[in-house]
Amino acid sequence: MQIFLDTANIDQIREAAGLGIISGVTTNPSLVARETTSDYEAVTKKICSIVSGPVSVEVLAEDAEAMIKEARVKAAWAPNVNIKIPMTAEGLKATSVLSKEDIKINMTLCFSANQALLAALAGATYASIFIGRLDDAGHDGMQVVEDTMMILANYPELDAQLIAASIRNPMHVTRAALAGVDVATVPYAVLMQMMRHPLTDIGIKRFLADWKSVSKK
Ligand code: G3P
Repeated sequence: MQIFLDTANIDQIREAAGLGIISGVTTNPSLVARETTSDYEAVTKKICSIVSGPVSVEVLAEDAEAMIKEARVKAAWAPNVNIKIPMTAEGLKATSVLSKEDIKINMTLCFSANQALLAALAGATYASIFIGRLDDAGHDGMQVVEDTMMILANYPELDAQLIAASIRNPMHVTRAALAGVDVATVPYAVLMQMMRHPLTDIGIKRFLADWKSVSKK
C-alpha cells in the first residue's frame, strides 16, 4: 500500500517527504483554504517541487465542459499533477474525456461501492472513498472500502486504484491495508500517530540509560 499525505501544508509535506515514506499528496479546496491562500497554482507548484509522485488538485467547476477546461489548465501546472473530479454525472462525463487524454483522474467524494465502480468504468486512475465522513454519518466506511475492493478484484480489466480517504485515525489505515487498498491518504497528525508508540520511547530511554551505566564502569 502507498501512503499519500492529505494536506496542502508545505511544512508538513516537507517533513513527511523527508521520512521517505510518502508516495504522493492529495489536496482539496478546503485544505488549500486552510493555508490562508487562494493561490492554488502557487501551492501546487510548490508541492510538486517537493514530491515527485502524484499530487491531486481538485477542479472547482461543476459542469463537464468547464471541468474539462479547468482540468487541462491545472494538469499543465506540473507533470505529476492528477486531477480530482467530484463523483457527479458531470464529473463522470469529464472523467471519460480526460482519461483518454492521458490526464490522471482521482474521482473524489465517493461514498458507495457503486460510485467507485462508475469512477473505474469512466477511466479514473483513482477512486477516493471517504471513510471518516461515512462513519460520521452513521455508516461503516470501511465496509464500503472492503466491498469495493472485492468488486474491483472481480473485474481485473478495471484498473482503477482505490484511495482510502477522509482518514481520521491509525486504525483506519491498518484496516485499509488489511483490505488491500492501493493508497491511504493520511492527514499529517495521523501519520505522526502511526509512527509513534510510547513503548518505543520507553525502550530508547532504557537502552541509553543501560549504556550510560555500563560505560561508567
Ligand atoms: O482529501 C479528501 C478527504 O481526505 C477529506 O477528509 O477529513 O475532510 O473528511 P475529511
